[in-house]
Amino acid sequence: MIYADLVVANLKQLVTCAGQAPKRGAGMKEVGLLEKAWVAGWQGEIVFVGTEKEFREKVSLIDRALLLDGTEQVALPGLVDAHTHLPFAGDRSQEFALRMQGYSYQQLAAMGLGIQTTVKATRGITKEELKILCRKRLQTMLLNGTTTLEAKSGYGLNLEDEIKQLEVLKELRSEQPVEIVSTFMGAHEVPPEYKNERRNYIRLLKERIMPEVKSRNLAEFFDIFCEPTVFNLEETEELARAALKLGYKLKIHADEFVPIGGTELAVELGARSAEHLINITPEGIEKLSQSETAAVLLPGVPFFLMLEKTAPARELLDRGAIVALATDFNPGSSYVFSLLFIMQLGVYTMKMTVEEAIQASTINAAYAIERETIVGSVEPGKQFDLLLCDIPSYPSLVYELGRNPITTVIKKGKVVVKESRPNF
Ligand code: NIG
Ligand code: FE
Repeated sequence: MIYADLVVANLKQLVTCAGQAPKRGAGMKEVGLLEKAWVAGWQGEIVFVGTEKEFREKVSLIDRALLLDGTEQVALPGLVDAHTHLPFAGDRSQEFALRMQGYSYQQLAAMGLGIQTTVKATRGITKEELKILCRKRLQTMLLNGTTTLEAKSGYGLNLEDEIKQLEVLKELRSEQPVEIVSTFMGAHEVPPEYKNERRNYIRLLKERIMPEVKSRNLAEFFDIFCEPTVFNLEETEELARAALKLGYKLKIHADEFVPIGGTELAVELGARSAEHLINITPEGIEKLSQSETAAVLLPGVPFFLMLEKTAPARELLDRGAIVALATDFNPGSSYVFSLLFIMQLGVYTMKMTVEEAIQASTINAAYAIERETIVGSVEPGKQFDLLLCDIPSYPSLVYELGRNPITTVIKKGKVVVKESRPNF
């Protein structure tokens, strides 16, 4: 007999995203749809998925078990946001106004604005203040269905303020329900005080900050903004190799604006993911599609920056790349909290199918942060992370716009959003 302390009964539809992970090509279209499905959990883990008949035969509810009725609900795995710049302070609405007047994101950066503006603001607040900002953002994201997220530092750009951001993430892990995977991104930009001595900043990263962050166990991944005006290909490779040597796993912001070989380097070095890819080359597409490196696409960025071009999602999907979607939540190029909105952009602006958008934001996003054996699908053995939605069938996730249909969020077997409100 299987014991259960939580059951969601008789779901109108359940999108499981089950099966071999990550998904590629035709596998992306197969979402593992069940109707009139029952899901049972024990101590935060899924122990049963199936029909009512199977449930009655196999599962026994303990006395204090919670039973939720899914009759009018469509369910899917908790969403995984695989790329965010969560811990920042300040806002860039001034610069947003300048962009409206025609200044580009890169022009603002060249004027000493952009990331530098946020670095100044982030350096200027305390850890406690930063934590309050992040806690509030995480709550909004949770209400929008994000149950696991990756978060990058990179707005401190010195030892103290990078550690401040990463400690905020660490402390928030035990203080609220969204699961956080940390990335150290000291290579997000060269800080203003090192503008004329960038070699010294790279040395500081390699010799001091990267080892310190690792020895304090504050980050699992290392990420680099590979762009001719930020870290060029040689610098990216130097930093990436140093990171691998120190035991970090690797991610690279590649081919966002100018293609200089960041994607190819990510594949050569066995990075877990290459991200952005708006300007990926045909060779980059070819190499990435043949690899185990995930293509994390961030359609919030071209939308937010009003660019003509998006990442070539269709080509990557059709060639069998491991495609994931993420918000890139940040104050300069994608101030987007909702992964559901990103899925919609994936479909409307990059011609992904609804099924591909769902899998890209669940199981493949989990793969991009090395959590595909734990989250991202609804199957026995996985963490019990589930969203219940008030929609007639799953395509309405993308078909209905501007309404959050998520009524219930379950994280590790706990109902953390109830009737669309926080419940923790
Ligand atoms: O992913 N590309 C670099 N970093 C962010 C933007 C950060 C910012 O503008 O503050 C991004 O787009
Ligand atoms: Fe980013």
